[in-house]
Amino acid sequence: MQKNSSIKISHTGSYLPSNIVSNKKLSESVDTSDEWIYSHTGIKERHFVTDECASDLAINAIKSMQCDLSDIDGIIVATATPDFNGFPSTACIISEKLKMSSVNTAFDLAAGCSGFIYALETARALILSGTCNKMIVVGTEVLSKVIDFDDRNTCVLFGDGAGCVLVEKGDCILNSILGCANDGADKLYISRNNHIHMNGRAVYTFAVKAITDTIKEICEKNNLSLEDIDYIIPHQANSRIIKAASQRLKIDESKFFLNLDKTANTSAASIPIALDELNSSGVLKDGDNVIFVGFGAGLTYGGNYIKWKN
Ligand code: UT7
Repeated sequence: MQKNSSIKISHTGSYLPSNIVSNKKLSESVDTSDEWIYSHTGIKERHFVTDECASDLAINAIKSMQCDLSDIDGIIVATATPDFNGFPSTACIISEKLKMSSVNTAFDLAAGCSGFIYALETARALILSGTCNKMIVVGTEVLSKVIDFDDRNTCVLFGDGAGCVLVEKGDCILNSILGCANDGADKLYISRNNHIHMNGRAVYTFAVKAITDTIKEICEKNNLSLEDIDYIIPHQANSRIIKAASQRLKIDESKFFLNLDKTANTSAASIPIALDELNSSGVLKDGDNVIFVGFGAGLTYGGNYIKWKN
């Protein structure tokens, strides 16, 4: 087995804005239907902000962890919809608003919907190098600000929300696979007029292969069989992608935890939001083999392996 250097996820948190928009509500303004959206994606509703920005959602998610913030020295924010284009980073805004005076490392990270996976691996490296001791890793998105509500191909897919974890040194094995396709930058992007554009079919095909290959690679790296996996928390984009990946891997689909019916695709926030829901339900036990796996704009992909410890 590959030698692992460990950190521990000691808390999880999440926040969804209160405004819920159903498929039916969307179909009043764009040529679509609840039947099409649910049968093609598994989505029933999504949350949209009214006037909050990415840092507001993140702060509510961080507060929901109910943990002591006084000794946290690092914040990484994975987002495609930061408060400001360019700078300052959303991480610095969060640190300032929460008066986190011990934070010395704060930055945003852009890897599309794979952002949380990239950020968790970055936090692991910063903690193990000794640069930081305790870090908050956040995924937060206000995708409603970049949705083209006249484009039925994309406007039905996305939602807003934030999820986060607190990570520190610990004995949970955590290692990662990070990837980048090198030929997919035009398949999913936010244009200069601030709208999401996507080649849905191309992303779908990429996603099924990325999820399948990443799970296999993580298992090989950690000497696990597919049966050893207890929970897979995938990026929540489309339940058909998960069904196709589970069929290819011949893994029981129920090992994949999905909550996208209520959230839609919240990009970099989707995995930590789903993790918090699963963790809060109390089902995660010490020693469970948990895999986070995702894909997104770039095109990027990746996965993290955690030996869970409460
Ligand atoms: O975080 C990563 C982000 N993205 C993804 O993960 C997306 C990956 N792709 C997908 O999930 C799927 O490709 C979509 C859900 C986006 C689309 O599903 P699909 O089964 O690939 O549909 P399609 O694009 O092939 O379109 C089928 C039909 C088309 O009509 P025609 O040309 O066959 O007459 C579309 O115009 O469905 C039509 N269509 C819709 N109809 C009603 C597309 N969007 C809608 C809609 N309502 N919202």
